[in-house]
Amino acid sequence: MNDWYKKMAFYQIWIRSFKDGNEDGIGDLYGVYDKLEYIKSLGVDGIWFSPLYPSPNADYGYDIADYKDIHKDYGDLGQFKKVLAKAHDLGLKVIMDLVVNHTSDEHPWFLESKKSKDNPYSDYYIWRDAKKGKLPNNWESLFEGKAWEYCHERDQYYLHIFAKKQPDLNMDNPKVREEVKSIMRFWLDMGVDGFREDVINFISKKEGLPNGLPFIPMANGMPYYKDGPHIHDYLAEFREVASEYDCFLLGEGPMTTTKSALKYMTGHHKNLDMMFNFDHMMADCFMTEYIHRPFDLRRLKKAFSKWQYELNGKAWNTLYLENHDHPRIISRYGDEKHFHRESGTMLAASYIFQQGTPFIYQGQEIGMTNIHLRDIEQYVDVSSKTNFYRFHTDEPLSKRMARIYHSSRDSSRTPMQWNGEKYAGFSGAKPWFYVNSNYKKINVETEEKDPYSILNFYRKCLKLRKDNDVFLWGSYKEYFKGHPFLYVYERAYKDKRMLVVCSFADRPLALRIPREYEKDKSRCRLRLILDNYPREDRLKGLLKPYEVRIYEIL
Ligand code: GLC
Ligand code: CA
Repeated sequence: MNDWYKKMAFYQIWIRSFKDGNEDGIGDLYGVYDKLEYIKSLGVDGIWFSPLYPSPNADYGYDIADYKDIHKDYGDLGQFKKVLAKAHDLGLKVIMDLVVNHTSDEHPWFLESKKSKDNPYSDYYIWRDAKKGKLPNNWESLFEGKAWEYCHERDQYYLHIFAKKQPDLNMDNPKVREEVKSIMRFWLDMGVDGFREDVINFISKKEGLPNGLPFIPMANGMPYYKDGPHIHDYLAEFREVASEYDCFLLGEGPMTTTKSALKYMTGHHKNLDMMFNFDHMMADCFMTEYIHRPFDLRRLKKAFSKWQYELNGKAWNTLYLENHDHPRIISRYGDEKHFHRESGTMLAASYIFQQGTPFIYQGQEIGMTNIHLRDIEQYVDVSSKTNFYRFHTDEPLSKRMARIYHSSRDSSRTPMQWNGEKYAGFSGAKPWFYVNSNYKKINVETEEKDPYSILNFYRKCLKLRKDNDVFLWGSYKEYFKGHPFLYVYERAYKDKRMLVVCSFADRPLALRIPREYEKDKSRCRLRLILDNYPREDRLKGLLKPYEVRIYEIL
């Protein structure tokens, strides 16, 4: 099996906010087409598209109404093919989002399924009768109230682990699995290079759908739908289709552990090539960003190192700090107010040089930050609105809004900031969602001109990673584990060693070099190869706030 994906770096596009090409205020494939050279210039090798398909947008594309077409807001299949061809000409691979845990309630399968208990689609979803006048079980949905919604036509309930408009597919039905395979073939035949499989560890539910624990909000049913009984068989069927093509499969695994991830990524089936885990996104929160706690570097390091050590030699990591589901990283793990550039660049190096395939989310490369809207009504993300109302009605408004600032997925979904002109150069028309007011300072055009910008630092990091096998294949070793502000790791491959030293402090900090190096003088010569501060600003023996240094050990 090929492993070209290991050398790559990816750029993630959430199209609605990327670039509007036809001036209606909504990002689209015309805009993407025009920006492919820019994406290539970053030094990435591929693009992951969040869903582009027709969707009523209850969950912005993750509620799909037709798997084999393009949303009219974004263009059409013809335009997609043009983007794909141009991307391939530029040497960029393209992967699509495969969202098959659920569809939209406006998908024709569901519209048929809900009509009666015996029609060709009646068993495509998870329907249950009421239990003694109550809901079929006590599961809660992750987005919107209970996990069951009543349907008059069938006098039954359907299961939705996410929003009400996202009914879960019944993957136990072989016809549903055939549909998934047919969707895969449709896009692979067109030439796409792989899939990111959405919440893929949720698709097989435990027989009998047993009650979950009553006191865990939102996730109480998870033990019965995460890593379910038939998950590996179903994924093996999908892998079989994929193996007819030169492509790879990347699974999103909410709450997945290294142990369960290894089951997906190893073994003779090797059902997934890579997985997205969430552990390192919990350094300032608990389980979800709604439950905020102060950022603790030790928590972050522990998560990073756990995945690095436990996958080494067995499976391949994905590396990311942002995507469309998480608020902006500088606003969380950095300092957007006082050290925007410094912390944005340091965070880039902190993860890109680990072992794995790095992903960069649109706007991350220029250091976009969270948006603070005044009123809950201004937010559009279903999970912000519902969780906000459901769980914290007893709290004062200011506290509830603070939770939204920390957690809303809308923060990563504001229009991309291309320049300092009206609407940040995203569109000539009023954009579909608010532009962050800092666009005059934080935008692509300004950062292009500054050799020390976050944008140019991402380019340097990606180039350095690509030019040095040690960053691709080298082993990983963490130093100063207990240090509250320093993250230091070494990569070693053949006779080459690199040391990455990251300061997470907002004040100068003593530079620490692993003791082993000092003991062995012959290994102690360090050659600085990358730094996020200009030479004249650097201090000897001290790291400036959020400084990062990469040394080659000679
Ligand atoms: C994944 C997606 C997220 C979506 C959810 C339900 O976590 O990344 O955006 O809301 O699945 O499809
Ligand atoms: Ca448009």
